[in-house]
Amino acid sequence: MDRAVRPRIRPATLDDVDGLLAIERVFPTDRLTRRSFRHAVQSAASDLLVAEGADGPIGYALVQRRRNSAAGHLSSIAVKRGAAGRGLGKQLLRAAEAEAKAKGCARLRLEVRADNTAAQRLYHKTGYRRFEVAGDYYEDGEAAWRYEKTLT
Ligand SMILES: CC(C)(COP(=O)(O)OP(=O)(O)OC[C@H]1O[C@@H](n2cnc3c(N)ncnc32)[C@H](O)[C@@H]1OP(=O)(O)O)[C@@H](O)C(=O)NCCC(=O)NCCS
Repeated sequence: MDRAVRPRIRPATLDDVDGLLAIERVFPTDRLTRRSFRHAVQSAASDLLVAEGADGPIGYALVQRRRNSAAGHLSSIAVKRGAAGRGLGKQLLRAAEAEAKAKGCARLRLEVRADNTAAQRLYHKTGYRRFEVAGDYYEDGEAAWRYEKTLT
């Protein structure tokens, strides 16, 4: 059976913010707020992409860029619980990478919880390499692994 879903992936608008906040509940800590999503939609230094489901966003990826830096930062990526495990995370990651590259980023960096093995597998499978650990990184004290990928 083909479990893959192919929703449209597009830039987020302010109308998506309620749906994005609903998706954000998948995170145990360090959730983005309404204010941070609104800022990401409006900032020229952020690319916030959403995957559109029948009733609103079912996933998103957020890349932030800094002037004079060749490294973009994948600040967050998430898929709604009911839509997980069907290839959407991988599609969002690819779309975020393409967008970052188009905006001039040579590399993408990210942090992931040390106990988040599902996300770590996604990054390993898509060519990211682990280069550093950051202790006591999240609100609950969990450490983060830092990953990087060169965007070819
Ligand atoms: C991480 C996340 C974005 C992956 O999205 P997804 O749509 O479920 O992922 P995909 O279906 O595209 O799977 C891609 C790969 O991720 C890994 N993966 C995804 N879910 C997994 C799970 N539950 N257990 C182990 N590996 C998993 C697998 O390697 C998978 O590849 P495979 O199916 O070829 O083996 C999603 O699980 C999520 O939103 N998690 C909560 C938020 C989060 O942790 N975000 C990452 C922050 S750094």
